Amino acid sequence: MYFGVDYYPEHWVYPYGGTPEEPEQRWAEDIRLMVEARVNVVRMGEFAWGLYEPEEGRYYFDWMRRAMDLCKEAGIQVVLGTPTAAPPVWLARKHPEILPVDEHGQVKHEGTRRACCLNSDVYWEYSRRIVRALAEALGNHPQLIAWQVDNGLGGHATVSSFNEETRHDWHAWLRAKYETVERLNDMLGLHFWGQRVTRFEDVPMPMAAPAQHNPALVMDWMRFSSDTIVSYLRMQVDLLHEITPTIPVTHNLRALSRDFDHFDVAEVLDFVSLDHNPVITSRCAELACEIDMMRSLKKEGIRIPGNSGGFWVIEQKAGNVHWQEVNSLVRPGIIRLFTYQLVSRGATGVFYFFWRKPRIGPEKFYGGVLSHDGRGDSRVFREIKQIGGELERLAPALGKTHVTAEACILFSHENDWNLKHTPQPNRHFSQREHIQLFYNALHDRNISVDFAHPMEDLSRYKVVFAPSLQLLAGAAADLLKLYVHNGGTLVATCNTGLVDEHHIAPDTGYPHDLTDLFGLEVSEFDVLPPGEENHLSFKGAFTTSHLHTARLWCDLIEPQGCQVLATFTKDFYAGRPALTMNAYGQGRAVYLGTVSQQPLYYDLVAWLRALCNLHPMLKVPDTVEVSVRSDGARKIFFLLNHQNSAVRLSFFKPMHDLLGDRSLTGNFDLPAHGVLVLDEGLPQSGS
Ligand code: GAL
Repeated sequence: MYFGVDYYPEHWVYPYGGTPEEPEQRWAEDIRLMVEARVNVVRMGEFAWGLYEPEEGRYYFDWMRRAMDLCKEAGIQVVLGTPTAAPPVWLARKHPEILPVDEHGQVKHEGTRRACCLNSDVYWEYSRRIVRALAEALGNHPQLIAWQVDNGLGGHATVSSFNEETRHDWHAWLRAKYETVERLNDMLGLHFWGQRVTRFEDVPMPMAAPAQHNPALVMDWMRFSSDTIVSYLRMQVDLLHEITPTIPVTHNLRALSRDFDHFDVAEVLDFVSLDHNPVITSRCAELACEIDMMRSLKKEGIRIPGNSGGFWVIEQKAGNVHWQEVNSLVRPGIIRLFTYQLVSRGATGVFYFFWRKPRIGPEKFYGGVLSHDGRGDSRVFREIKQIGGELERLAPALGKTHVTAEACILFSHENDWNLKHTPQPNRHFSQREHIQLFYNALHDRNISVDFAHPMEDLSRYKVVFAPSLQLLAGAAADLLKLYVHNGGTLVATCNTGLVDEHHIAPDTGYPHDLTDLFGLEVSEFDVLPPGEENHLSFKGAFTTSHLHTARLWCDLIEPQGCQVLATFTKDFYAGRPALTMNAYGQGRAVYLGTVSQQPLYYDLVAWLRALCNLHPMLKVPDTVEVSVRSDGARKIFFLLNHQNSAVRLSFFKPMHDLLGDRSLTGNFDLPAHGVLVLDEGLPQSGS
């Protein structure tokens, strides 16, 4: 188990720390306190380009080597960031063409991080130089266990830029994809509004324009921008692999906030890391959903320090954030709870952002393990130290355990971009909220979930949920059919298969290429404004606990052989199917032609649990979050109480409490925000 902090030694030299005689004096105290908190790894250097290379070609890596040497004396390992997220000012002054241009054609100026266009050949060349110099200078340091390439790619709304060099790359990308201008015109539907072109060089970038750009063009632009990020990342990864082949490479991703394909990025990386941003108002199932989504990005071929599989959380907030309107303190015990939630869902490394609140710069009011005063007696430090001690004790039991899931939710970034960036029938429909309805039901009923890209092999899952895949490629539709044909259970919903990968709507009925799988055709769809509702009436085997509503979206379904499980009760489509099931090959395809409130999804999961023989992890009250890590032989259960009050648990057979090293049986009150880590073995030293 890697227990770490994000450390910025450059913030703690004279005049912000240390003395004129010994400018780096503070570092020793930092390292001493880290050891006291059981920190065994630090990430450093991801914004240090301007300090490593204050003038072009003059490199100063010695200060970082001295920091790494101090880590060595203390037995602390090091992850180094490549510093390309923050180009130095001299570079932008010398080559202003590297600065990104926005959709209005305005330059975003130098003086902060991310002031660069990733299509700039000049920026690529300077990036290669600094990465090579860094890897050659520090890559053989014995403490180095991983590289983090860049930092927060796409952050601060920099996924796309609209520079002239970008335009050039865009045209090359389109040429490679379509080969002829005729094909480009046809596939992008440029007949519409008569926007056909005669040369690739005339295809516009989707910059600010009087009306909406063609959605097919916007989709290609998103794909192109994502490919730009992936190829920039790959350039650095390849360089680091060449110079330091034994050191794995990662990057810090954020769930669901940046428009590039995270599955593609994960494929280039040796292992995935994430920035996790829980705030005081975060809901536990929403956080769990994001963690599971990020864990699922890379399921195979993971090369990670300690060879433990899983993923790292390379930035876990150590306290309050600084980017909300009101940045309240995270309450005592909550960082511990957040940390166990990460570990319970498969994290094998957790680093706190950051070690100490900086005295300088825009992030000075962000929570840190230490405050501005740097004293080791603060509330947060004590909590981190407690977690450090506990994880050290748990590490042998966690060993090579990981999370496995019987259920899976499909997620495609392309579909996400489509729903966000093209005209939609109902702007109040949110894919994230839709996914969360399914996720909450599985989470609260203790069924573990993976996410998967629609093109993945799904055969390992007993049930697959495919919420609102409005843009669905023909090949993905075929794979879904194959999955069901071979015995899988697929649950899809309204707003599926309305366009293909070229953003062309089908003339063979919705959902395109899947009408035979579901045994139905959607002839029209009615969308409802917030507050307006239809209702559902159920028949047959589907047991309901509530009167269920239909909202936001109602499909008008023509059944073509499917079994009808529920119908709408109001409006001109009263009596028409709303929930159906169709036998297909060895499996079945369920279709829910509307969006409801949470209780329907609970009923759906209860029904599927019996239908698909899903195993809940442990029977505990719904308010307790459960996750399991297993190595095949041994199961470790994590029970987290996210409530502000105690919850009574009943153990019908004795369980071993790994943190308390005692046996638990009968009733047990899990305190507010309390954590239990259990297995079925015996205590090591009796109880
Ligand atoms: C992260 C970033 C950090 C810090 C943090 C603030 O994504 O990597 O450097 O800025 O956000 O939330």
